[in-house]
Amino acid sequence: MDPAPDSLVILADRQAAPANHREPPRHPKWSDTLTYIAKPEKFCRDNLAEYGPIFKTSVFGGTTIFVGSAPANKMAFNGDNSYTQIGLPATTMEMFGEHSLFQRPDLHRDRKSALRPGFTGRMLADYMPHMHQVLTEHLQTWPTDQPVSLMTMIEEVTFDILAPLLLGIRLDQGDSILAGLPITTKAELKQQYKTFFDGFYGLVKWNNPLTTFGRGKRARAKLMDFMKAVIAQQRQSDFAATPDFLSMMLMAQQDAPSGVFNDELIANQCLLQLWASYYEVSGLLASWTYQLGEHPEVIARLQAEQGAILGRNLPATLPTLDQLKQLTFLDATIKETLRILPPSSTATRTLIKSVMLDGMLFKQGWNIIAEPRIAHAMTEHFTNPDTYNPERFLPEQGEGRAYEFIPFGGGVHACLGAQMAMVSNKLFAIHLLQSFDWTLLGKAEFVQFPLRKIKDNYQVQLHKKK
Ligand code: HEM
Repeated sequence: MDPAPDSLVILADRQAAPANHREPPRHPKWSDTLTYIAKPEKFCRDNLAEYGPIFKTSVFGGTTIFVGSAPANKMAFNGDNSYTQIGLPATTMEMFGEHSLFQRPDLHRDRKSALRPGFTGRMLADYMPHMHQVLTEHLQTWPTDQPVSLMTMIEEVTFDILAPLLLGIRLDQGDSILAGLPITTKAELKQQYKTFFDGFYGLVKWNNPLTTFGRGKRARAKLMDFMKAVIAQQRQSDFAATPDFLSMMLMAQQDAPSGVFNDELIANQCLLQLWASYYEVSGLLASWTYQLGEHPEVIARLQAEQGAILGRNLPATLPTLDQLKQLTFLDATIKETLRILPPSSTATRTLIKSVMLDGMLFKQGWNIIAEPRIAHAMTEHFTNPDTYNPERFLPEQGEGRAYEFIPFGGGVHACLGAQMAMVSNKLFAIHLLQSFDWTLLGKAEFVQFPLRKIKDNYQVQLHKKK
């Protein structure tokens, strides 16, 4: 576990703050939530310019401190079981359920360690042939020389990559493979997922089909039935032969029947990991494609790097994980997309104890949001932050240090799927660069909440590479 910042002091209950303490600047305004949700970039930038990287707001009710400086991010990310708890709305927490990594801080460390092998190392390498195959098949069907919706195409390919890897199902033989399960078509699975996803952000915790939350709960129940049936089906098969997250958990359960994994946790984790990844990864791939469309000079350099490291025989040959690591400029462009267009903010924490950080008081009961939109725009963290410059992430320039570059959060709850997201984007990039040139049709507009993504109606035009 990352330690709390050195200068952090946790105040005992009823202990007074030192007389010379400061509080975060700015008076919260009643309109903060609306302003933030409508234009989060502008909200963060304007307040950063006026008040610095720590400021007080009333976003999502109560007092919510936005932070972006490295020590404050570190403080926000490492307080679990000590001075913070997850501060998400009741609707979101209930949608997560008790088997998530957010609900039970006492079990978090054991659960996270048990889940990690599913997203790193050998498993990640074993996922690559599937990713490669889906990309090859999808990109062959992408229409050229006509306007197409960027987000729709990318969401389709991302779902076909991630759903089989995380739910342990097959989608490559049409819907027949789902026959006999509680959800029988891919279209229905996607629809239930969307309803489940929306349920996390329902405003009213009223379990009724009339509310977003109520519909989300029903979708969750249906998806749980589906997952339990998939688990039963997998147990009848040689699941150890298929490299996916579900079989990793089933094998771990077989090895240690009284360990972390029980059936309820396994089914929940499959659902939650697809939830955590599908929309985030889709948003990232689309933003990366869009950003590169604005920087054709960067595309030429990426193609040269790819030629030097992978040769030119894709899509026939699958690169190795090691070759992907060598694509350092590609890595840098993905990080620059994550810096300028981070798909999400990080989850809110609530202070269960007052703390002092560098003479500033953060009071018990306040919420904290560590915002990449602030951290990534700070001149203390990035040189000329307003300029698109992937080179900043090359090892020799060394920008993007821990707690300064936070698209995947950090500390105790740092994203478990960060490597998987990077590998997915790299393979996608390799296929896209080998297959197409592309032209942007105007400036993209983004949906900002709950996650950032390019609007569905935004179109690009692909041109087949000679
Ligand atoms: C572009 C892609 C992604 C982005 C931007 C992203 C972002 C994040 C962020 C910001 C957090 C921290 C939340 C917090 O501090 O409360 C997080 C946590 C998490 N992410 Fe991701 N994520 C991505 C992809 C994935 C993928 C592919 C998976 C798994 C398949 C995944 C699984 C998780 C899990 C399990 C956590 C919670 C870890 C914990 O509570 O200890 N994410 N992610």
